Amino acid sequence: MTRVAERNVVLTGFMGSGKTTVGRLIARELGWTFVDTDDVIVARHGPIDAIFAEQGEDAFRAFEREVAAEVARSQHHVIATGGRMLLDPANAAVLTAAGRVFCLIANAEEIIGRLQADVDGPVRPLLSGDDPAAAVARLLDERAAGYGQFEQVRTDGGTPHDVATDIIKRLEA
Ligand code: S3P
Repeated sequence: MTRVAERNVVLTGFMGSGKTTVGRLIARELGWTFVDTDDVIVARHGPIDAIFAEQGEDAFRAFEREVAAEVARSQHHVIATGGRMLLDPANAAVLTAAGRVFCLIANAEEIIGRLQADVDGPVRPLLSGDDPAAAVARLLDERAAGYGQFEQVRTDGGTPHDVATDIIKRLEA
């Protein structure tokens, strides 16, 4: 018997907000399966930066919609989504119906620091221009209302383990 009544846990939030790291910890603690939607896309279609470069962002967003519909059929999964997946209303509809959604948030400085430290992480094409800090600031601003519609979890005041514990407490409440 799981301690948590939700069917799935879905994590959204900006790039570098900690969805993958925190998601893995939550899955381990609940004994659930972890899935990262970007990883599913990469396994099928190759690296995200190559998809953007060769097929364009619209193709990537179409792959995201396919994967959103698929993972929404899961049970007892912790689903870490790409940073814009839940900002598409169709994806938000299927994934909010599939489980409890949390939006991980951090301030711009913290996000930039984490992304710079993530040297082994994926290339993020939306931030690979001349001024990544300006791109982060612009995208955070553009997306503030979109992210704001989901339950917020601050991640800049503690470790990933603290954030996972906070989310599990909320699930058990
Ligand atoms: C994106 C976020 C990335 C990835 C792609 C686009 C975005 O995922 O899906 O580079 O538009 O916010 P992460 O949030 O896991 O970095």
